[in-house]
Amino acid sequence: MDLAFLSAPALEVSHAPAAARDLASPVALARPVANSAASTTSSGSLTATAAAVAVVGAVAGSARRQSTSGVRRSGRRAAAQVARQAGSLTDCPFTAYGTKDVDVPKERSEVVEHACPLEVQMSSDLAGDLEGQKKWFADNLPKIYKDLKNHGAVVFRGFELSEEASGFTQVGEALELERCEDPLHSVAARDPVDKEKGVYEAVNKPSRRKFYVGMHNEMVGNRAPGAAIFVCFKAAEEGGEFLIADGRKMFGKLDQEFLESSYDREIRYSTAEFPVGFVESLGPLQGVAEPVLYGIMTQALKAKVDFDVELRWERSGYDGSKILQVRALPQVPVVRHPYTGEPAWWGSMHSHSEFLRSEREKVFGDEGLDTTTGASRINKTDVYYADSGEKVEDDRMKHLDDVTMETAVKVKMQKGDMVLLDNYLVMHGRCPFEGTRKHAVTWYNSPDYSKSEA
Ligand SMILES: [Fe+2]
Repeated sequence: MDLAFLSAPALEVSHAPAAARDLASPVALARPVANSAASTTSSGSLTATAAAVAVVGAVAGSARRQSTSGVRRSGRRAAAQVARQAGSLTDCPFTAYGTKDVDVPKERSEVVEHACPLEVQMSSDLAGDLEGQKKWFADNLPKIYKDLKNHGAVVFRGFELSEEASGFTQVGEALELERCEDPLHSVAARDPVDKEKGVYEAVNKPSRRKFYVGMHNEMVGNRAPGAAIFVCFKAAEEGGEFLIADGRKMFGKLDQEFLESSYDREIRYSTAEFPVGFVESLGPLQGVAEPVLYGIMTQALKAKVDFDVELRWERSGYDGSKILQVRALPQVPVVRHPYTGEPAWWGSMHSHSEFLRSEREKVFGDEGLDTTTGASRINKTDVYYADSGEKVEDDRMKHLDDVTMETAVKVKMQKGDMVLLDNYLVMHGRCPFEGTRKHAVTWYNSPDYSKSEA
């Protein structure tokens, strides 16, 4: 999970232009650039501009986004095999949106209800036997794959093997899952626990403890892991529960008109914004400065990242000042599972909605709030209809929140507990917490469900 606000959902749907790409890295730009906004004054405008452009280059330059190609996809499994043996990681896979052919009314009526998540307790016979625990995962692989496919997520409790990072990595290996890179790796937004083995910190930072991580499928730019195992190395003293919501259930429960319209109109996320209010203090030079600034920003992005985004002049929702907002390309909010074909509600509306985030902050507080400007330093995302560019209405978001939280299940994890999830079937999030929390995650390609028990 994590750093959900950094997730930059994007487009890779079959009906979209092949060149359509989303911006992953610039999402991260929101942090340094937004931070700079707090101290930007007219006298500091040039510095701010230079800093913004420098940040674009520095961050985007580290992004290794490449075009999708059949060759690349077909070679991924073989590469993953080699990478596993070599101890390195393959790229996070491209998002598999599939075809846009969901018959919403008909398929809603066909949703099969499964308990989500499924809970599995380690047998006491295996206590103290780490090798035996590893073997248990290997021996039960077909059953575990079946459970994952049916339930969307499986909580494993009581295993000692996963109490430390070194043993935890062996669980994925025993399950023959192919590790992939963190979709956030290019922006280094998530600290590694063991980078080589693909074990990354979840959102544990004390500064983020009051932040309620809204429900989302893991996705950055045009990449999304197929599966994940989250693990608890140390539970928070209070709160910090992991949240899981079945996307198929959401598809069955959401208001049909909302589902149909959002699926038809598609969704765009704003994923970053550059505060450029200083241009309004330039007097007669403003008319000259704006297109120059726009051109610089656009070119800096284009030169450094290999995917399309839209840069728009907008007004800050906080103080009305001018901003350049980055919007990801359109995407559908319902996708078919790459293996089963089942439709599921998918994406980051719940975590990215400015309205819902503000509502959560009223309840839980937000330590990321900049008290000098009233602006959140790091959360600059929101949700729009792709066809008109208008924000998705607050009442729709309220409805989405109601259904999401009705569907979501809190999982209080103890040391060693793991959640194996299919990223195309379930969304995840995290409750605020007190104390110290050390949870981690490893991302994987989609499981090879042909190995599943019938
Ligand atoms: Fe996440």
